Amino acid sequence: MSTKKVPKLALFPLTAKVNKQGHLIIGGCDVVDLAEEFGTPLYLFDELTLRHQCREFKEEFGKYHPDTLVIYASKAVLNRALALIFKEEGLGLDVVSGGELSIAHSVDFPLDEVYFHGNNKTPEELNLALDLGVGRIVVDNFYELGLLNRLAGEKGINQDILLRLTPGVDPHTHQYTTTGTIESKFGFPIDTGQAEEAVNQALSASNLNLSGFHFHLGSPVSEVQPYELAMELVLGFAQGVSQKFGFSLSEFDIGGGFGVLYTLDSRVPTIAEYAKSVIGKLNSLILGLGLSRPRLIIEPGRAIVGQAGVALYKVGAIKEIPGIKKYVCVDGGISDNIRPALYGAKYEALVANKALKAERDVVTIAGKLCEAGDILVKDINLASVHSGDIIAIPVCGAYSIPMASNYNAMPRPAIVMVKEGRARLIRRQETYQGMMNLDLI
Ligand code: LLP
Repeated sequence: MSTKKVPKLALFPLTAKVNKQGHLIIGGCDVVDLAEEFGTPLYLFDELTLRHQCREFKEEFGKYHPDTLVIYASKAVLNRALALIFKEEGLGLDVVSGGELSIAHSVDFPLDEVYFHGNNKTPEELNLALDLGVGRIVVDNFYELGLLNRLAGEKGINQDILLRLTPGVDPHTHQYTTTGTIESKFGFPIDTGQAEEAVNQALSASNLNLSGFHFHLGSPVSEVQPYELAMELVLGFAQGVSQKFGFSLSEFDIGGGFGVLYTLDSRVPTIAEYAKSVIGKLNSLILGLGLSRPRLIIEPGRAIVGQAGVALYKVGAIKEIPGIKKYVCVDGGISDNIRPALYGAKYEALVANKALKAERDVVTIAGKLCEAGDILVKDINLASVHSGDIIAIPVCGAYSIPMASNYNAMPRPAIVMVKEGRARLIRRQETYQGMMNLDLI
């Protein structure tokens, strides 16, 4: 393996290397060979990076606050093989639908460590959660509070719940992924008095047991201050209601949103920095407010799976508009990664079969979908690109696959798990016939 420095490698999974031929290697596998064997577009997950991130969260938060439960936010990406890894790593799970819950159940995930989120859980989903024995249901609104109490009562269950509170804190992230501000569709706002009324109703509900409070500010939140401010507001509120209603907070769930590096010039706190600041703040608040120490719940999604995932595409058409733009067109696009089009998300890219070549070609990587906005990366420096080359985009593990669609009747891509030179298909690529199987004529 060549040790020649390729700065972009820092964004790829921890096992990323370049071999003598200048091919990108992930998890001991030559990605150019994987693209050939499994076809493109192809998503890779590096098992070592996945497990490393799980352990890092447990270790860094556990170091300062042993009673921390790390629950992986499945919306970032979930399938059965990934769920098994999170189970083996001893994480809990945040699910937001009957579908995610069913995937967890299918691998015998310990359901008492599952937290069920969502702003409009259906009666069917709540019944499923009650029947399966989900650990906590995170109640979002008054409708759900009444509905869940009734459904639990019909089954003779006393269900542990958290209340989702809206602290009214701006996390400085994209408008579409901001959830902690007062106008959000999520949670009970503290400022309007609705959070206090929710506590009142929850405590008098005969089939619900209020364990604590949850907030989630947004995603990604690339600073620590919004967490600190929200903790201050929510724990201040907790102290007020504990005096008023004699309620004691046993769980405090600060959500997810921990940032990752998508590009070489981005900056985000490390997991250790998030942990230090969150727990430092928690310690000073519980001391100052005279609260007893609650169990801390954190819900990282992106920061566990983001860097572990790599998207591979094959280059087809190359179109140069002289003096204006050079497009490199690949065989996927917004059908497998809508993030650039939806949020203006930025990515780096590498020509995976020319990783050691000087990067002197400024190009725009365009997808193949029938939308002018189907652009994966704008104006990026790459090694001179030709049709047939393989483009690798790092940090594609979170929110690409689960937001993928069949737009233009594109089959969703296969997913391969790599580890120590072995590649294991963990999800097949969809087929034309498979897509048509659901159609009736
Ligand atoms: N907990 C709750 C209640 C959430 O709503 C979310 C994300 C998380 C945890 C995990 O956040 P993470 O650690 O992954 O940042 N599609 C967007 C992100 C939407 C996030 C939705 N909720 C994107 O592609 O950036």
